Amino acid sequence: MAALVRRGARGLLRCADAAATPRRWRHKKKWAATEPKFPATQLALQSFDVTYSVQFGDLWPSIRVSLLSEQKYGALLNNFAAWDHVSAELERLNARDFVSEAVARGAPEPEAGHTEAPSSTSRGCSPNLRCFTFARGDVSRFPHARLGSLGVMDYYLMDAASLLPVLALDLQPGDTVLDLCAAPGGKTLALLQTGCCRNLAANDLSTSRTSRLQKVLHNYVPQGFRDRNRVRVTSWDGRKWGELEGDTYDRVLVDVPCTTDRHSLFEEENNIFQRSRKKERQMLPLLQVQLLAAGLLATKPGGHVVYSTCSLSHLQNEYVVQGAVELLANQYSIEVQVADLSPFRKLFTDTFSFFPSCRVGELVIPNLTANFGPMYFCKMRRLQ
Ligand SMILES: C[S@@+](CC[C@H](N)C(=O)[O-])C[C@H]1O[C@@H](n2cnc3c(N)ncnc32)[C@H](O)[C@@H]1O
Repeated sequence: MAALVRRGARGLLRCADAAATPRRWRHKKKWAATEPKFPATQLALQSFDVTYSVQFGDLWPSIRVSLLSEQKYGALLNNFAAWDHVSAELERLNARDFVSEAVARGAPEPEAGHTEAPSSTSRGCSPNLRCFTFARGDVSRFPHARLGSLGVMDYYLMDAASLLPVLALDLQPGDTVLDLCAAPGGKTLALLQTGCCRNLAANDLSTSRTSRLQKVLHNYVPQGFRDRNRVRVTSWDGRKWGELEGDTYDRVLVDVPCTTDRHSLFEEENNIFQRSRKKERQMLPLLQVQLLAAGLLATKPGGHVVYSTCSLSHLQNEYVVQGAVELLANQYSIEVQVADLSPFRKLFTDTFSFFPSCRVGELVIPNLTANFGPMYFCKMRRLQ
């Protein structure tokens, strides 16, 4: 009844509009041809309501409202720029470097008379990263990044939770590193900021997206560094990497395509919930298992892999990890050990809200006081 009343009112308004507009200017809008009956953003929300209310129970209403609210950012300092005064400026805005704070909290107490900085190994996370965020409940925004005196931008704005997979990868000086699905390049840039990469292979299937990655590198990494061939950008199918370069890398990041939950609620363009992309969406977990398996095969025995998504879906997170571990055991007789990240999570609980009951890996859930994520990450070690 209410719907009929609304439709009737809309009809009347259209008549009034028509009467006020000269006939020669009137045109009939072709609704069917121009706008989908169900916008993909709406389909995404419907799908999340069905699956995530079961998956997260009582937590879902709070995650939902946070997902629909403005996201918070972090400012990743560019170590290739002169960043001292930038740190000072960000501190004046009341932002703080959550990485250094977490590392200081996690470092063992120095012995009496011993004032050495903790090594990256004792910290258990990739060194040299500095990322500023505003405190819980503070929804201030960062000013736009600026071009620094050394010809590169001073910081990179990103979802601060996106740094956690890179931190968890725990790069060591001289590592050979593969970023299997790298574009548009926020995590590639963070990997380079550690100063640990002997060389870095940054790959993404999409050539238009690798162009965006090249632009990020151009804006943030000095030409001399790029020219010394320390960074190689390719556009191959990551699923083939095990065959192309097996047993090669010390560290591999597998940041797969997923339902990009936050993006899917706001952007019609390129939205994976469009009706025409249903099949692609259903095939995502299979693609994710194949990419993670390829990443594990590309790792040297003893090397480490971090798998990550920006989805809340268990099917794309924990189940994918389990599927890839089983695939490697059954098809290649390769044993993979899944790391316990709970000590790592404890370092960052001041800044992020974590889902308390992941079976493997860790999941940052959006929260109104700390509106980062979603970001799932799981660390694995290839044993042989
Ligand atoms: C979540 S995004 C990566 C984001 C990136 N790591 C960052 O931090 O900016 C996933 C990427 O996977 C790429 N992709 C999809 N299928 C792929 C495949 N078979 N091999 C390699 N990359 C693929 C997509 O083009 C997309 O850029």
